[in-house]
Amino acid sequence: MGRLKGKIALITGGASVPGLGSATAHRFAQEGAFVHVSDRDAAGAEAIAAAIREAGGQAEAHGHDVTSEADWDRVMAAIDGRHGRLDILVNNAGIAVLRPIADLTTEDWKLQNDVNLNSVYYGTRRAVAAMRKTGKGGSIINISSVAGLLGVPACGAYAASKGGVRIFSKAVAVETARELIRVNTVHPGMILTNMQGVAQEDNAANYDSTVALVPMGFLGEPDDVANMNLFLASDEAKYITGGEFVVDGGMTAQ
Ligand SMILES: NC(=O)c1ccc[n+]([C@@H]2O[C@H](COP(=O)([O-])OP(=O)(O)OC[C@H]3O[C@@H](n4cnc5c(N)ncnc54)[C@H](O)[C@@H]3O)[C@@H](O)[C@H]2O)c1
Repeated sequence: MGRLKGKIALITGGASVPGLGSATAHRFAQEGAFVHVSDRDAAGAEAIAAAIREAGGQAEAHGHDVTSEADWDRVMAAIDGRHGRLDILVNNAGIAVLRPIADLTTEDWKLQNDVNLNSVYYGTRRAVAAMRKTGKGGSIINISSVAGLLGVPACGAYAASKGGVRIFSKAVAVETARELIRVNTVHPGMILTNMQGVAQEDNAANYDSTVALVPMGFLGEPDDVANMNLFLASDEAKYITGGEFVVDGGMTAQ
């Protein structure tokens, strides 16, 4: 308890249950953060915020399409108006367009990169500005994937977006290190969420062959990633920036 006491956090894509964003929102609130939960699914985000408040935590929800710069400005202004600062941003919202290269359309490619990569730029840029205003540093956690580290079949567009998130984060981390604004990436492997369910339906053969590549032999739970996010968000990680952290049952160790 209290590992994020007094900190103000924004987590995007926090509506899905089971999802990495909602699990992270609950963990952060349990550890004392005031959590802003955003999602394009405004009702879903409100349900998570309400559940956090019912459990005794502090949370507020925002309808927020992460591909919209106007939405980013509105959400950041609301947080600034309420607290005057932001300590933690988790760029978690994402979609998975998993198609073999021959089936991938230009529309798929643009949508995938708009939701997973451009959004991370929109959010990181604004969070750096907010953290600079207070001069107290902060933690930006950008959710990538093992597909941003390894070649995974039928993942070209998704991999490009997640690889972009990885190296963009390192560049910003170096740029903001002296200001103690830490920027790290988390790379989940196969975690049991709604996205993984969609991926399974979309591309069952690929899904089975990918699970077979997990040395532990089973899918992770959302809290496995939420706990990594919690560590990186907390002051326990005060000397850690520009890093990439796998939560993958050993997938990338092979
Ligand atoms: N689950 C896994 O195995 C896994 C593996 C690697 C990486 N990831 C990454 O983790 C993150 C969370 O994934 P998840 O498994 O919880 O997925 P999920 O599908 O369960 O949840 C994603 C959430 O993002 C929201 N979202 C999608 N597009 C949005 C937009 N334009 N604006 C705002 N919100 C939007 C959805 O409404 C949903 O609530 C994603 O970035 C994903 O790529 C997940």
